[in-house]
Amino acid sequence: MRLELDWMGEMKILVVGGAGYIGSHMVKWLGQHGCAVTTLDDLSSGHREAVLYGEWVQGNCGDRALLDQVLAAGRFDAVMHFASFIQVGESVQQPDKYYHNNVVNTLTLLDAMRAHGVSRFIFSSTAATFGEPQYTPIDERHPQQPLNPYGRSKLMVEQLLADYDQAYGFKSVCLRYFNAAGADPDGQLGERHDPETHLIPLVLQAASGRRRQISVFGNDYPTVDGTCIRDYIHIQDLCAAHWLALNSLLQAGPSQAYNLGNGSGFSVNEVIETARQVTGQPIAVDYQPRRPGDPARLVADASLARSQLGWQPQFSQLSTIIEHAWQWELQHCKLDN
Ligand SMILES: NC(=O)c1ccc[n+]([C@@H]2O[C@H](COP(=O)([O-])OP(=O)(O)OC[C@H]3O[C@@H](n4cnc5c(N)ncnc54)[C@H](O)[C@@H]3O)[C@@H](O)[C@H]2O)c1
Repeated sequence: MRLELDWMGEMKILVVGGAGYIGSHMVKWLGQHGCAVTTLDDLSSGHREAVLYGEWVQGNCGDRALLDQVLAAGRFDAVMHFASFIQVGESVQQPDKYYHNNVVNTLTLLDAMRAHGVSRFIFSSTAATFGEPQYTPIDERHPQQPLNPYGRSKLMVEQLLADYDQAYGFKSVCLRYFNAAGADPDGQLGERHDPETHLIPLVLQAASGRRRQISVFGNDYPTVDGTCIRDYIHIQDLCAAHWLALNSLLQAGPSQAYNLGNGSGFSVNEVIETARQVTGQPIAVDYQPRRPGDPARLVADASLARSQLGWQPQFSQLSTIIEHAWQWELQHCKLDN
């Protein structure tokens, strides 16, 4: 994978939501690759100390006056937008919260960008825009029929980005992550959601003793062992995909959406078993009934990102993903207790 950018001079990037799990790894990546980074985050779920590089601005991306200030202060070459609410269940209970933050605030950000002449945008989208798979692995041609307000809020942004390109020449790359996982291989950053809803950190909290057991929802799916299959993608591989997407936009590449995953899914039981091997800890499992809206199998076909962006995941082994997340859990579980 070629990671040198075809760009002269220092690049200035605004990272919105850069204090969160994925955004903080991206801020580090950009800082280490010589970019001038500014992070804008309201700390609704992020952590200030996770922002290791660049300038810091605390605030909401729906605050137009603040955006005008930030965007007027420096000529940004692109914006990466990680900020959103991310809990599927909560989005069903409180759709207003999700549409306001994920759609309305994003629209404010896009309009501020246009007003300040910034027209390159990388958007964190999700496999949840697809809904129940009609076939797997899921490629970009798969119909998008999200099952919940979270997925719909992300699809709405994808759709309005297509309209903005057509009307205003506003260029964007939508990266649809499947399951982001793992942690910074240097051990400086990792996943710290509260509440945590993602499988690997939950399993590792059970291994470290922060949780008594791990609840598994459904072991009667039509899969190898009855548990759901998901595609786990290492956070560093996601950062690399953003970097390549940025390069494509800087080279006047077209607006495009890409599915990002390893293309090989692992069942929940396989994740737990691998976590037992990596950690050397027994991990107790509590099998519960299925949850509504959980597809049996969600696996990405990422051939388009591979062929068009030259993206090649470097950390596709499940044991490596879990090993990095375990190092983070061991070092940092005390922070959240
Ligand atoms: N984690 C995953 O597996 C996954 C999968 C698919 C897509 N995504 C998407 O990736 C993005 C990042 O996910 P994450 O896991 O890092 O989430 P996260 O909650 O850790 O990070 C989101 C960050 O955005 C900030 N934020 C939220 N609303 C804001 C606002 N209006 N203004 C300013 N800051 C705001 C939060 O404080 C937080 O720091 C999200 O858009 C999410 O939908 C994540």
